[in-house]
Amino acid sequence: MRDDAILKLLAEANESGEICKYSEEQILAAQQQNAKNKINHLYNELIFPITNNILYLIYSLATLIIMPFIYAGGESGAELGAVAAYFLVFSVAIVLAAVEKYVKNRPEGKEKWPKGFQKFSNNTFALNYMLTSIGYMLALSGGVDSSVVAALLIKAIGKQLVCVHVNHGLLRKGEPEQVVEVFRNQMDANLIYVDAIDRFLDKLEGVEEPEQKRKIIGAEFIRVFEEEARKLEGIEFLAQGTIYPDILESDGVKAHHNVGGLPEDLHFELVEPLKLLFKDEVRVVGKALGLPDGMIYRQPFPGPGLGVRCLGAITRDRLEAVRESDAILREEFAKNGLEGKVWQYFTVIPDFRSVGVKGGKRSFEWPVILRAVNTKDAMTATVEDVPFSLLQHITERITKEVPGVNRVCFDLTPKPTGTIEWE
Ligand code: XMP
Repeated sequence: MRDDAILKLLAEANESGEICKYSEEQILAAQQQNAKNKINHLYNELIFPITNNILYLIYSLATLIIMPFIYAGGESGAELGAVAAYFLVFSVAIVLAAVEKYVKNRPEGKEKWPKGFQKFSNNTFALNYMLTSIGYMLALSGGVDSSVVAALLIKAIGKQLVCVHVNHGLLRKGEPEQVVEVFRNQMDANLIYVDAIDRFLDKLEGVEEPEQKRKIIGAEFIRVFEEEARKLEGIEFLAQGTIYPDILESDGVKAHHNVGGLPEDLHFELVEPLKLLFKDEVRVVGKALGLPDGMIYRQPFPGPGLGVRCLGAITRDRLEAVRESDAILREEFAKNGLEGKVWQYFTVIPDFRSVGVKGGKRSFEWPVILRAVNTKDAMTATVEDVPFSLLQHITERITKEVPGVNRVCFDLTPKPTGTIEWE
């Protein structure tokens, strides 16, 4: 698809509010159904008991006022007065019970009264409350795809989108901070940040097999995300940054994961606005939405993150060394005009050590492997011809600055025979 065609699509999508595969009618029907459910709920739980009992109250008070007159009328008048008193006590008790029930059952951490309750008096509260309560949720990794979906939905529905950023400890240096800065501080997004580092690393302890690692990361991610979803109310749509190659490449070579596999009782409808676009097309959409270039043109990063670059069983010290060496490589590529020119570049640390000399003493430490490749579609790849002097400079920096590393290698393997990632 050409750039202007995507821009046109986007403009139309923004105008009509049709931001996903669902038609306007389908979204409207879903909103109406949701509105109906919420109105019924509110009516049954709160408004009906109160209005019903307010009538009782008025009746009882009126009866009490006329009671002395009835009493003056003899014995049967006294009986009527007793009945009126009974109604009064009964009504007050029911009103209090209804309020208490609502207050007790209100969702944890939510404001005391439903959003928009104050607007009750102008009769529009129900509609406002319903429309603002239709929830969309998005797992925001900070990668190009989920960031573009987030920007698209934030433009369309603002705070109705809840972005959940799960820090699984396998992100690049500075990434979680950047997600918070761009989305929470600059775009004013409704962002939940989850620090799940220990949880993921504990689960991965001792696991060597690459596919097993991928599965654990994917499954744990879903679990964390599910927990967050269950804490929220009114979430009906799950947005995902699925793009066309994700669909094409589900061919059994590697388990590319997205937030699929959520338990069925969560009943989310999927929203995948980018699922027919290739990466370069997604970038055009991101640019049109005003995302910073640094976010749109960042190199691809696998869902399991540094977990597949810290080879074998992940240890915290080697993971830190991958993160630090990756940051140095990125910094040097940026300084030397290779950022944006080379398609993907990163570092890998194997789970073995080699002998070296450091500070005049024998060292027994890990090697760092540099990888820099070019490709159009990631199905095949060639190796970037990185200037030798730059490789030497990067080697010097990594061996000096990254604890536990005494050797740097450069991977010369195209795809095929090697895949781009090592695991
Ligand atoms: P390979 O290693 O298969 O990688 O040549 C091709 C491209 O896909 C990325 N990649 C992944 N992305 N989840 C992802 O979201 C994954 O499990 C995954 N594995 C590889 C890889 O970084 C490269 O860009």
